[in-house]
Amino acid sequence: MKVTIVGAGAVGASCAEYIAIKDFSDEIVLVDIKEGFAEGKAMDLMQTASLNGFDSTITGTTGDYSKTAGSDVAVITSGIPRKPGMTREELIGTNASIVKTVAENLIKHSPEVIIIVVSNPMDTMTYLAAKALGLPKNRIIGMGGALDSARFKYRLSQAMGCPASEVSAMVIGGHSDTGMVPLIEKASRNSIPVSEFLSADVQSEVVEATKVGGATLTKLLGTSAWYAPGAAVSEMVKAIALDSKKVFPCSALLEGEYGLNDLCIGVPCVIGKNGIEQILEINLSDAEKAKLSSSSEGVSKTNGLLEL
Ligand code: 2OP
Repeated sequence: MKVTIVGAGAVGASCAEYIAIKDFSDEIVLVDIKEGFAEGKAMDLMQTASLNGFDSTITGTTGDYSKTAGSDVAVITSGIPRKPGMTREELIGTNASIVKTVAENLIKHSPEVIIIVVSNPMDTMTYLAAKALGLPKNRIIGMGGALDSARFKYRLSQAMGCPASEVSAMVIGGHSDTGMVPLIEKASRNSIPVSEFLSADVQSEVVEATKVGGATLTKLLGTSAWYAPGAAVSEMVKAIALDSKKVFPCSALLEGEYGLNDLCIGVPCVIGKNGIEQILEINLSDAEKAKLSSSSEGVSKTNGLLEL
């Protein structure tokens, strides 16, 4: 499998590193606009191959998309990250034109590519790429839910004093501080509902901490996070590479699912070699439905700022 990652900043480089270490892809191409930057990151990462024991090759290019030709999967991380105090939505002005240009360049050289969008505001950038390229909806996937769910599992594991690997939990809805819908009622520790371990107050605290997970890190780091975003992308790419049919909450173009239309928002999806192979319409409680509906209003409002 050939994977292109556009944007060799912290998130893009982390994606490349985790994909290389997991060693399911033979070729990884990093693209950046800053002269020599992707080449430097690729060389640095390649010098870890003998240490980390991977055989994937990683190359870098300064904006030469011909080097990305024949990619099976491309990950768009380009654009500016948020600074402390900013919302993801505030990035739209700068990131929209970058994401659109990148998506068009990718498709020119890899007409069959599956695109994973990471750039923020992620749901709106996924929608923009979907509209600009007119690809079948299985080939445009927004990464957000996989990351938010990992953060939710982290918070739940901390609260329950157990490993995160024992926790099953999912966040749907928009990838924003107010739009995330952590499905606490469905979360479990080794099949036991988390309500058996956590009081209602602690459950609410976990939900609130999950929703501002990215903002909390941005405040601590001075820029947005990269390890968990990179790891989340690598798991999604791996599910495509191995055709594993794993379920991830992904930002998918909805056409009536969950009663929603004409937007990309986080819902559970089966991921395999064709990208989004199925959107799962799971039963939601009335409270969960109301939260997803209000989240969709926020995403649609941000989509309204796009010049399509
Ligand atoms: C985050 O939540 C990058 O939006 C991403 O950290």
